[in-house]
Amino acid sequence: MTAVTERAVGAPLGRIEGPAKVTGAARYAAEYPVENLAHAWVIQSPVARGTLDGVVVDPTTEDKDLLAVLWHGNAPRLEESDDPELAVLQSARISYRGQALALVVARTPEAARRAAQVIRLEITEEPHDALLTADHPGLYTPEQVNPAFPAVTESGDVAGAFAAAPVTVDVTYRTPALHNNPMEPHATIAVWSGDDLVLYDSNQHPPGVAAAVGAVLGLPAERVHVITEHVGGGFGSKGTARPNAVLAALGARVVGRPVKLVLPRQALFSMVGYRTPTIQRIRLAAERDGTLTAIDHEAVEQTSRLYEFAEQTTVATRHMYAAPHRRTGHRLVRLDVPTPRWMRAPGEAPGMLGLECAMDELAERLGLDPIELRVRNEPRVEPESGVPFSSRHYLDCLREGAERFGWADRDPQPRRRREGAWWVGTGVAGATYPTMAQPSTARVRALPDGRYEVAVAATDIGTGARTILTQIAADELGVGVGRVHVRIGDSTLPMASVAGGSSGSASWGWAVTGACRALRESGSEEAVYDSTEEVQRQEKEGKHAYGAHFAEVRVDADTGEVRVSRLFGMYAVGRVLNPRTARSQFISGMTMGLGMALHEEGVLDPATGDWVNHDLAEYHVPAHADVESIEADWLDERDRAVNPMGSKGIGEIGIVGSPAAIVNAVWHATGVRVRDLPVRLDKLL
Ligand code: MOS
Repeated sequence: MTAVTERAVGAPLGRIEGPAKVTGAARYAAEYPVENLAHAWVIQSPVARGTLDGVVVDPTTEDKDLLAVLWHGNAPRLEESDDPELAVLQSARISYRGQALALVVARTPEAARRAAQVIRLEITEEPHDALLTADHPGLYTPEQVNPAFPAVTESGDVAGAFAAAPVTVDVTYRTPALHNNPMEPHATIAVWSGDDLVLYDSNQHPPGVAAAVGAVLGLPAERVHVITEHVGGGFGSKGTARPNAVLAALGARVVGRPVKLVLPRQALFSMVGYRTPTIQRIRLAAERDGTLTAIDHEAVEQTSRLYEFAEQTTVATRHMYAAPHRRTGHRLVRLDVPTPRWMRAPGEAPGMLGLECAMDELAERLGLDPIELRVRNEPRVEPESGVPFSSRHYLDCLREGAERFGWADRDPQPRRRREGAWWVGTGVAGATYPTMAQPSTARVRALPDGRYEVAVAATDIGTGARTILTQIAADELGVGVGRVHVRIGDSTLPMASVAGGSSGSASWGWAVTGACRALRESGSEEAVYDSTEEVQRQEKEGKHAYGAHFAEVRVDADTGEVRVSRLFGMYAVGRVLNPRTARSQFISGMTMGLGMALHEEGVLDPATGDWVNHDLAEYHVPAHADVESIEADWLDERDRAVNPMGSKGIGEIGIVGSPAAIVNAVWHATGVRVRDLPVRLDKLL
């Protein structure tokens, strides 16, 4: 093998599939040319609760292009699943508005949609409850919150500490339902060949989708082949198989030809998950010098009748700041609503909004700079577990970020800075995200032409994963990136973990590193490495990425319009594998944070149980004009304990704390504390 002087890891390599994407050559799930393809359309429930008693296809409107109408009265039977939402068309029970009640399959997409519009559903409607309140009688404490944390933690004497504290804050913050909205909607083409099933499917985990779809169809995972070469975003909503994959497979089986199902944008709002709304009460108790004596953070959130999804909203509070007396909790209520699911930084994004805004309120109460307040409460070890941090450079992010942002001369008083029609203010908030790795397997082969093929069933959801794995393999093999060909996006490749939890690069990179080392050391032509044992030996606690977000906003004194003039993130995330793709991850997370602070809000009408604003015309996401400057940078952090690359996950931390920095800046500009997101102009006047 030839020695190369330049290391690939750390270089700003452009996306390998970039040219294919911009020229249209890259294929997304719905774009594969398949012969004899039929098209499906989902009929969704128009009621939030009840039963589907019948489906009537009026023979006078029946279309020659119509192939099948499937519903629970005629659909093939499925096996039980861990995920009740994959048991599509199996029962009369309607659990939420928007639930898939029937599948129309036709020769053309137009015919499928046309038929869906004239098919009559016979429904018995029942009274429903779709309104989350802090005192809902159905509230209960779940056994665990996601992915496997205790729902409640308590240590010390919280009540005593609050009674004795000279300064306290007791505030309630609310975050609305948020929707993932990837550019590429959820889509599947299902092709049967005998008892084998091929799914071209847009998802974040091809082997997981193969296993889940196989399980409901009664097929072993290896009979289901999931191809996911390119994905136009997922943000958590494609982390597990969604109903579209099962519906397409059922439709194809019944009509005996391949079936394509692309969920329309409006269906995503109810069929693929969303971030639960939260009502968070945060209490902080402190000495006059700002030393925290107690932290109490409790979140109220919703789940569906079908499935308990318990967002881990207050988990980040368990390790963020030191305090001898502490409590965190979660309470849930089952409503007649779609099931909330994973959305970028589940738990951390809403929870850190509450905590970091409450810290700003405490700083105000104490007359202390908000950065200094955080400095005074820096823990030496993880506060609840007592485990040392593998690395924690949170204060360095705050200090270096403050320097770069220009924080020093800030007047601590709100509503002091006026520039023409605008009130101007600045705000800061901390960021954190757990550093995780999951078992994966990779295979590397030396090819006769001198190149190397690296194979792992990972998927690139737009993060740059394919590029980063190429860089990692090139360095381990000691060759240039041009000699490495990475194959991902296929469930038949060696088993890989989900592109989620900001753990993709760490997990797959670990396996790729192991396989490349094994090849080099053995001198053979092929090597396979399974990281399971090594990953499971690792200490799990005490591993987190950190960051600090700084925002400057302008608020129109007459209209209340908010403009973010500057948004800056300073991170400590271990080794940055590719600065170009990393910067994109940070900035995209911060952009979603801006949306969470100012624009995004899923409005569920309690009268109908329906999302009122279920499209991008009315569910507002930020555009370029909503921010004037958005930048990210990072410290040179070394952490050998996390994984062989020394990298921490970066896909989600940008959305953690950035909303709080903006909300705190709005207070600094105007003197108004908005505790109910998003900050809209009507809340400022
Ligand atoms: Mo992310 S919500 O862990 O895909």
